[in-house]
Amino acid sequence: MIKHTVLNQNFPVFEFDLSEMIDTKDLANFIIEYKKNTPISRESSIRAWHSGFFIHKRTNKFEELISYIENCAHKAFLDLATDYDRPVDILNTKFKVLEAWLTVYHKFDYAEKHTHHPMSLSAVFYIDGDDSSPIVFGDYEIRPKTGKLLVFYGLLEHRVKPVLFNNKDRIAFVCNLYPFFDLTEITEIGKNVEHEKNYDKNIL
Ligand SMILES: [Fe+2]
Repeated sequence: MIKHTVLNQNFPVFEFDLSEMIDTKDLANFIIEYKKNTPISRESSIRAWHSGFFIHKRTNKFEELISYIENCAHKAFLDLATDYDRPVDILNTKFKVLEAWLTVYHKFDYAEKHTHHPMSLSAVFYIDGDDSSPIVFGDYEIRPKTGKLLVFYGLLEHRVKPVLFNNKDRIAFVCNLYPFFDLTEITEIGKNVEHEKNYDKNIL
């Protein structure tokens, strides 16, 4: 491993409430059926059943949810921006879900520490299992609540504590997002971008 220092930087976890917008019962029923038909889990640091990486390519069932998630990721991205005076158009940068999978945790299931690097932003949407095992970011824990969406940096390390009761499955939709910058103006740098006219072009 390359010598490095871990800094205690500002890595927020954003929370959104989509419970009024998304029919979580319908999605939960779909996922339970999907799992019955594909019971073998993908192997990873998640010690619970989880689907393949491209659930969004296999079904359009999550289209509406994905649209909300992409919108929330954009809002989080804007909130993180400290300098809008940039060559890339921060306001019109779109986030797209590139990978998405389903997770179902039963009793004693858990997830080891991991990151979603190199994805830019990641999201977890809780579909069932209120107050079940929390997701843990360092010292900070967040318990699942149906309809709650979390958005965080893909680099942010996290884990899920073991599920200690199984009254209900802990069901979540998880995805990774990547920003698509509008590069049109960047290719024209130094020519017609108002921003650049204010600076010494020699620095570019
Ligand atoms: Fe994760």
